[in-house]
Amino acid sequence: MKNFLGFLCLCFISDLSFAQDSTSQIAIIPEPVKIIENPGHFLLPQNIIIEAPSQPEMKQVINFLNDRFSTATGFSIVVKNSDPSATVQLILNKKEDNVIGKEGYNLLVTPTNIIIKANEPAGLFYGVQTLVQLFPKEIESKVVVQNMKWEVPCVDITDYPRFGWRGLMFDVARHFFTKEDVEKYIDQMVRYKYNLLHLHLTDDEGWRIEIKSLPRLTEVGAWNVKKVGYFGTFAVPKPDEPRNYGGFYTQDDIKEIVQYAKERFVNILPEIDVPGHSLAAIAAYPDLSCSGGIKNIGVASGEEIKDWDTHTALYDDNLCPANENVYTFLDKVITEVAQLFPFEYIHMGGDETFKTFWEKSDAVKALMKKQGLKNMEEVQSYFEKRVEKIVESKGKRFMGWDEILEGGLAPNAVVMSWQGMEGGIKAAKMKHDVVMSPTTFAYLDYMQGDSAIEPRIYATLRLKKTYEFEPLPEGVDPKFIKGGQANLWTEQVYNMRHAEYMTWPRAFAISEDVWSQKENKNWNNFVTRVEKHFARYDVAQIKYAPSIYDPIIDASESPDKKLMVELSTEIDGLDIYYTFDNSFPDNFYPKYSAPLVVPD
Ligand code: ACM
Repeated sequence: MKNFLGFLCLCFISDLSFAQDSTSQIAIIPEPVKIIENPGHFLLPQNIIIEAPSQPEMKQVINFLNDRFSTATGFSIVVKNSDPSATVQLILNKKEDNVIGKEGYNLLVTPTNIIIKANEPAGLFYGVQTLVQLFPKEIESKVVVQNMKWEVPCVDITDYPRFGWRGLMFDVARHFFTKEDVEKYIDQMVRYKYNLLHLHLTDDEGWRIEIKSLPRLTEVGAWNVKKVGYFGTFAVPKPDEPRNYGGFYTQDDIKEIVQYAKERFVNILPEIDVPGHSLAAIAAYPDLSCSGGIKNIGVASGEEIKDWDTHTALYDDNLCPANENVYTFLDKVITEVAQLFPFEYIHMGGDETFKTFWEKSDAVKALMKKQGLKNMEEVQSYFEKRVEKIVESKGKRFMGWDEILEGGLAPNAVVMSWQGMEGGIKAAKMKHDVVMSPTTFAYLDYMQGDSAIEPRIYATLRLKKTYEFEPLPEGVDPKFIKGGQANLWTEQVYNMRHAEYMTWPRAFAISEDVWSQKENKNWNNFVTRVEKHFARYDVAQIKYAPSIYDPIIDASESPDKKLMVELSTEIDGLDIYYTFDNSFPDNFYPKYSAPLVVPD
């Protein structure tokens, strides 16, 4: 494909009727349940009064509004407990409104004031997010913007989420992201009404959480050799190369992150990924593997450690299910994790456990005989059931990736379905709780445009596809589907700007998949709103991928055996101009209308 892209040059010109056909100023993401647009506007006065209840949970609700108003407008702000003449009234309902639930809100903008009502502070927080999106994009500015008319359209909005679990996963193991990075990620996700951050804390490339009773996990396990390239093919580190790339969260850091999240109505789901993906732990404590770390390469640094085609482990990155010390180790880890994270669940991984070294292990063979386990899937199931017991003994619910279904699901396990929706459907039919986060719709590490343009990853997931994510499959009892989440794996993500690029705009789409009513979703309308949020992100200085404007290129063979290329656009209403003459086309070049045969 790259060969012909060298001389096929493409250009998109937006059909103006597409980008500007929305006469409404309103561009809220995720789409609220109900918006009534009324005539007129509310103009923000120079002296703003915010009326808000005094509960401690209101701190960040008020701070958020205060921060946006004071930073961008420079106006004066006073917060009061009660003032009927307030500019913005944040009101907790005395009598519960059964329609909006715990996280919903009513937002009324009239020419004289703004009123947000909710049953709980979380609802007011989400109402405030919507309100900020009603202001001109300059409200996102990091400095005072002069000469602005800070106007919002008069609206009456009723809104509440479709699902209770609205998550993003951030892999802080493959590359370490600082506490400040994680807090920044939380700041961004809550604007789109996400309420769960899943932290993937351990993997072959790093162990990121301090466990006081097992200090080597971070002394050794948090550090590898900095390498670049295409992950899985990085050069093998030389023995004398310094292992100084990485980092970890101290327990104080974790407490701070948890508190930061809580104040913003976000739960943190910790993941300790076992029994596979455990090379960092094994580098610290080699006896945890069945092979005792004989071929120990230390914490992985992006070199090839697995053969993905044959599911063969080249190095032993599994904890040994036949070693009692492993369960003692896990008990110590889970005890500390359970104390640090107030959330009701602990995610124990379970994915991609290639059984190569288990198959060779005499201890595993003896375990199989003793426990009557017929195959390696049953060995993993034995392990998962024991881990479930440990997790439950700490008062938490056990969760794992859908591989934990293989060989028999642990009795109370909650399943996170990533290999498509099937695992989740199967688990829900077995009356287990499920969170859907399938690769097909929700993998934020995949490329979002053509591989000739995007930083290369092995798969592609376009915005349009993420918008098609439906967490509740037909024929499944909705009570078992807790919600959905998108996952940002960071094998190829070295810094926050790129984490933002990979997350947005696809997490706009996922937010709508998990918050908005199914019947309110509309791709074309969503895209007009995405464009407006791009403009907001420009002001907010948050990076996003503009890949929806890139061509979709399909190469095939023409009937007379020539290379043929078919071009299409992800958004309706865009024109494509092209050339084969090595120049950059604009709208004075030929307009694409039918598949092109590439010149010899
Ligand atoms: C996964 O993507 N291995 C859960």
